[in-house]
Amino acid sequence: MRVYDIIQKKRDNASLTSAEIDYIISGFTRGDIPDYQMSALLMAIYFNGMDARELTELTEAMTRSGDTVDLSAFGDQTVDKHSTGGVGDKTTLIVAPIVATLGGVVAKMSGRGLGHTGGTVDKLEAIPGYRTTMDRAAFLAQVQHHGVAVIGQSGHIAPADKKIYALRDVTATVESIPLIASSIMSKKLAAGAKNIVLDVKAGSGAFMKSVDDARRLAETMVGIGRGAGRRMTAVVTNMDVPLGRAVGNALEVLEAAEVLSRRSSDGLLYQICRELSARMLCLCHGWTYARSCDAVDTCVAEGAALNKFRDWIVGQGGDAGFIDDPSRLGAAAFQVPFAYAGGTGYIAHMDAETIGKAASALGAGREKTGDTIDPLAGIVLQKSTGDFVKNGDTIAVMHTSDERRINDALSYLSHENALTFSTDKPEPQPLIYDVVT
Ligand code: URA
Repeated sequence: MRVYDIIQKKRDNASLTSAEIDYIISGFTRGDIPDYQMSALLMAIYFNGMDARELTELTEAMTRSGDTVDLSAFGDQTVDKHSTGGVGDKTTLIVAPIVATLGGVVAKMSGRGLGHTGGTVDKLEAIPGYRTTMDRAAFLAQVQHHGVAVIGQSGHIAPADKKIYALRDVTATVESIPLIASSIMSKKLAAGAKNIVLDVKAGSGAFMKSVDDARRLAETMVGIGRGAGRRMTAVVTNMDVPLGRAVGNALEVLEAAEVLSRRSSDGLLYQICRELSARMLCLCHGWTYARSCDAVDTCVAEGAALNKFRDWIVGQGGDAGFIDDPSRLGAAAFQVPFAYAGGTGYIAHMDAETIGKAASALGAGREKTGDTIDPLAGIVLQKSTGDFVKNGDTIAVMHTSDERRINDALSYLSHENALTFSTDKPEPQPLIYDVVT
């Protein structure tokens, strides 16, 4: 087999065979295929795409390039959730204990935040003592005991994806739905769950800015997962506005505890968590959607999900005292209100990406891999889209341990894109655009 012939075939829009895909992925991972040939192939895929069979085989070859987690001992109830990244997205912290309370087995590997988007591992590390790295035996024991474990993704999961992503990043081939879908799904397949729910976000704070692109990505990933023998659902959700009131690691952990304790004022955050939890339960138990939603509401209302949240955190070494006493997570030394100074009006749009960048500027995020973050930094929104505001009203409170960061955050929040106002109350936006089952 010659790499040249494989590149030529894809350039001419033909389908690659399973053996050709395997040859490319294993050869590139070993270092036998040079970057310039892989770059040419990636560009050919960028322009010509791949059919469903090729994509599943590409993804499975990427999965096989590294470690995989065998969850078969837990039967067919293993269920994972993946979000394509957003601002203020603390859904894993809420959904995982809900689903585990109701008999789903959540053995999850999560990522870190980059740029304006947050990552679950950073949020969990804001909890004193919580271990985001565990050896395999301890991870599986936690799953066995509590039905839920969430750790950081090991460096040996889908190394082919890591190498390919680095190349895509410098060859203008990141924005390709087949390549994004295979990249995400290679890691999800490696994580081992039989059932996978994808939360594909669309909007200003998301990777996919349009609902149509998000839907195409959702359909492509569902196709890959099904082809690989997994049960799949994707939910296309709105990321035009930050999810919930808090953006920043410890702040989001506290908001998750509030939702599970029914103390949260943000009904939309609960709605999206209810939807994702219900979809996970439909898949792993075969329950109807209505039964799944009722079960979610009941387990939250009765406090069972909150108890599971506590047990999960303690099981992974964390101090769960913040659930009853939020001060146990600490508080940022500087908490500065951002006030509105433009007359009166309704907030017509709150740009999620800009709010995410402001939170990152306060120390909640990292510009490049390896930067340290301030777990207490972030933004708590006091107002959201559709609220009426007048001169002097506080729209958000900025939290940081480094006062010098306030000006950077202010320049984002005061930017004309951050907030737009109207004299009429805006129509509520849909929270869930589509469900791909
Ligand atoms: N996230 C991934 O894991 N891969 C991509 O290609 C894009 C987003």
